[in-house]
Amino acid sequence: MPETILALEGVVAVYGFSRVLQGVSLAVERGKVIALLGRNGAGKTTTLRSIMGLVTVQSGRIDFEGVELRGKPSFEIARLGIGYVPDDRRIFPDLSVEGNLALAGRHSPRGGGGFWNLSTVYELFPPLREFRARKGSVLSGGEQKMLALGRALMGNPKLLMLDEPSEGLSPLILRGLVEAIQKVGAEGMTILIADQNLKFARRLTDYAYIVENGTIRHQGAMKELWEDSEIVRKYLAV
Ligand SMILES: Nc1ncnc2c1ncn2[C@@H]1O[C@H](COP(=O)(O)OP(=O)(O)OP(=O)(O)O)[C@@H](O)[C@H]1O
Ligand SMILES: [Mg+2]
Repeated sequence: MPETILALEGVVAVYGFSRVLQGVSLAVERGKVIALLGRNGAGKTTTLRSIMGLVTVQSGRIDFEGVELRGKPSFEIARLGIGYVPDDRRIFPDLSVEGNLALAGRHSPRGGGGFWNLSTVYELFPPLREFRARKGSVLSGGEQKMLALGRALMGNPKLLMLDEPSEGLSPLILRGLVEAIQKVGAEGMTILIADQNLKFARRLTDYAYIVENGTIRHQGAMKELWEDSEIVRKYLAV
């Protein structure tokens, strides 16, 4: 039976005086990969940041496994089992690849004992094993994305949230990333992906929400969304 792991209800988020989310509601079922799509400035990042406790949520509910997240500090939210890969990645530039990964494993209470560890992360991303002694700062954009994702996996979260994973990647690197995320999903990880790229998201998930102006405008099967040129034009196409 499907079980909801994360549910947002009427989430209103503000930056100072500016109301950015106007009451976002969405649900993620355990074990599923879900996309949150929308144009530039639609509210995707703010939705993820609201879940992580990184913006002010003025009203609404954010329920994670029966626990209300609203008002909790973000370290506590991470500790409850949410792994977050922000769009700017934030890897440690002076630490080696392996140092970055090991640190993420050590700092997570759920790190030990899960499926994801140094060896499974290296299996997923062979270039990270090859470059394990290199500093984070000398990695290419694609390698940094791998490292950021690997770091989040090292914490063995119950829910993984990826912000704009496809951004700035060449088609070849993108293909590799799609395969890697598919493998992570196949291991049973629940994943919420915020991205602008419908073609990319379509390969990873069969269900999507579309946000526009801080409100969910559409939700439904990816297959139907893909064929609905009017919705695509209205909310997604560039
Ligand atoms: N720190 C901030 N202060 C004030 N307004 C902000 C801030 N960050 C984002 N906004 C505004 O909030 C709205 C939603 O932004 P958000 O970053 O959530 O969009 P997004 O869907 O992630 O877009 P993108 O595809 O560009 O990443 C935009 O209008 C943006 O200008
Ligand atoms: Mg964003």
